Amino acid sequence: MSKALGIAFKLTIVIVLLGILGVSIGVLIVSLNIQNDYEATTEAPPSTTPAPTTKYVDPNVDPNFKNIPDGPIIATTDTRYAKFNQISNLFESWMNTTIDPCDDFYHYVCGKGQNTGERSPFDISKSKDNQVTAAMWKVPAAYWTSAPLPVKQMKWIYDKCQKDDSFTVEDQQAQQKKMMQDLIDYTKVDVPFFVPTTKKKLDKVTLSKLTGYTKGAYGAFVLLTAFVSTDFKAPDTAPYITYIDQPLPMFIPDVYTDANYEKYKPILAALLAESISNFAFTMGVKIAATTTMKMAGDMVDFDRLISNMQQDPIVRRQVERNYNPYTLAELNTKADQFDWVAYLQSTLTLLGDNKDAKVTDQWRVIIMEEDITLNQLNSLIKKTDPLTLANYIYFRGFDQITGSVPAPPKLRVRADPLAKYRATFSRDKRTLTGMLRKPLPPMQANIAAACSGILDNILPWAASRMYVDSDIPDKKDRQALKDNVAEIANWIFFGFRSQLDQLNWMDEKSKQGAFDKLNKIQLNVAFPDWVADDAKLTAYYDGLDINENDNYMNQRLKLTNYFHLQEVLPIVTEPARDRGDFSSFIGITNAWYQPQMNSITFPEGILQEPFYSPDFPLATIFGGLGAISGHELTHGFDDQGVQWDGIGALNAWMSEISQKSFNSMAQCVIDEYSSFCPFPGVCVNGENTQGENIADNGGIQAAYKALKAYESLNGADPRLPGFGSSFTSDQLFFLTFAQTWCDQDESEAGFESQIRTDVHSPAIYRVLGTIQNFPAFKNAFNCPADTPYTPTKHCDVWTSKPF
Ligand SMILES: *[C@@H]1O[C@H](CO)[C@@H](O)[C@H](O)[C@H]1NC(C)=O
Repeated sequence: MSKALGIAFKLTIVIVLLGILGVSIGVLIVSLNIQNDYEATTEAPPSTTPAPTTKYVDPNVDPNFKNIPDGPIIATTDTRYAKFNQISNLFESWMNTTIDPCDDFYHYVCGKGQNTGERSPFDISKSKDNQVTAAMWKVPAAYWTSAPLPVKQMKWIYDKCQKDDSFTVEDQQAQQKKMMQDLIDYTKVDVPFFVPTTKKKLDKVTLSKLTGYTKGAYGAFVLLTAFVSTDFKAPDTAPYITYIDQPLPMFIPDVYTDANYEKYKPILAALLAESISNFAFTMGVKIAATTTMKMAGDMVDFDRLISNMQQDPIVRRQVERNYNPYTLAELNTKADQFDWVAYLQSTLTLLGDNKDAKVTDQWRVIIMEEDITLNQLNSLIKKTDPLTLANYIYFRGFDQITGSVPAPPKLRVRADPLAKYRATFSRDKRTLTGMLRKPLPPMQANIAAACSGILDNILPWAASRMYVDSDIPDKKDRQALKDNVAEIANWIFFGFRSQLDQLNWMDEKSKQGAFDKLNKIQLNVAFPDWVADDAKLTAYYDGLDINENDNYMNQRLKLTNYFHLQEVLPIVTEPARDRGDFSSFIGITNAWYQPQMNSITFPEGILQEPFYSPDFPLATIFGGLGAISGHELTHGFDDQGVQWDGIGALNAWMSEISQKSFNSMAQCVIDEYSSFCPFPGVCVNGENTQGENIADNGGIQAAYKALKAYESLNGADPRLPGFGSSFTSDQLFFLTFAQTWCDQDESEAGFESQIRTDVHSPAIYRVLGTIQNFPAFKNAFNCPADTPYTPTKHCDVWTSKPF
């Protein structure tokens, strides 16, 4: 098994891990997810009021209703009856049929469940995932005896993580001090906090070594943001390469606005000063409180300058402009505040002697956000007080170190006082990945769950092995799941192919590029096969030196070290990339598209009820998992996806003229979603969410075409029993699509926060925006023209013949 699997994704994993620990960089921004706070003003956006004669009529009440479903109701003796009945009950528990679907489809589908406290489909699935994840540790003892080594190692760490009291807080501090001392020894300068009278400027080699080593050895991003990935432009021929991105701030942008800064600066400075005192205590040094406070304030000012430098995320959607190859010699002349050879060597410090042979001044790296990374940062460093600059780097190094050394279990409750202000980011392939929805924070209901979460993230393939063993023990069932889901996905590909065929705005050559991309899609379902193979799993984790007798602190240090080494190892080993890389632990409710692989991944954690069961009615399978497949597929064809080709190389395949047509299609979507304003002045950011919205819209088209094609070949399913018996197949399709997004309505603060931090539109607009563009909805629910959900003017996303 190739070592390349997953390596390039570990950056995100580190960040998530640190998030779990409640320390250092990765904690999610304060998500003001205030629920049950719904007010009437959050109803669907204003539109023309339908004339009274056009009111939706409940078919149960009015026998003249046009869309009366035909065909028989499913027989109680049918093997699928139980699932049909379950679906019927699910609709009943959520739907408020007194609401007019043409007027407010979202609340028609979700309105009752919102009032009765139904759990959202995502929550239901997530809690099943959590149950499996908890259960996978409770298997009979015999499982561990015969398990491959990495799984045994998981168990050793998991057990120790919860109970190992064989080390003390003093041991923890001694370890932190040692790691800090390693950094000091490496750079040969003392920590300026402790000798604030030394105003000496760090020379550029020292500055570079300091910045590079904190990243290479401890995973901190200070000033420069380096990560290793495949070469975007030559993923199969070139070895792995280092990318260097713009500097990242410590804190969220909200605290740095002109309006807020006066209020937040003293708060942040006080919190930093507290951490600096801990730092001094650990190092056995005393500093006066006033000195600390002044230095902390200067560091916050400096962080604000870094925060203000950040490139607009909308501009960052253009990947081509971020691919700027340089040799280190060129960088040395272009950005003279760093010694780039010293920096790169330091980021690769875990490679040992290997790095020095590799890194000469002819070594190539890719610079992202060129102007910021090279010019703006260079001038900022030049004009910053040397003491502040040095303090800032040392502090972030120390901050990272404190986060990576665990305390004994009983004392592991220590909260990170800075947590709620910390900026969240990831700088790896995932930043390009189209997810079904924003990843949910990992579970950490208790110490067992938190320990499991650490392992799921750091050793995702050993964890995935345990997950599949626990969730689907029977090999036949595993294959059936993979086959069934692949069949659905292939029907959706078929639907999308027919859309491409009929597209009237794309020239032939560009269409060839699109077909090629579609034909080469890599489909990953449930789990990677190799994790179920003992020999392959063991070989993959070959370098993981974790023993049963290690104490937990040492296990964790070894894990973290292993992790940082895997991140840079491909620079030396130059493995081939694996397009079947799932990129994440499989026990999660999400799905994603990776442009660098041209792959779609459905982890096992989402392939379950309420999203999917092989015995569900077809219309609900296509409206649920089918629309999700269509969403991920269309990410390959959204504003970012079209920059990548069939093998996952950064290589746009559209002609200029077709790209223009694509752009006006995207603009239509941008304008449509920008007009969704749940509160005065609080509107969806159409540009920032365009990729997700294009994916939702193209995806449902493909899923609906697939359903129609499937039904014309195989015939329609029988009707649901009970409550659901009044719905046609088409209606079930739309109901399921909307139900996927059922959740509590957001408060104003919740909307604001989501709009600011999420590339996905709020749930209600994912439904409204998509259905508005879909004429088949109008027929399915017998809606008059120009109701809110059926505007005459709409966007045709990846289709010239919308149904
Ligand atoms: C259904 O919606 C109507 C209109 O908004 C509301 O008055 C009613 O309480 C809702 N019913 C349920 C069960 O939520």
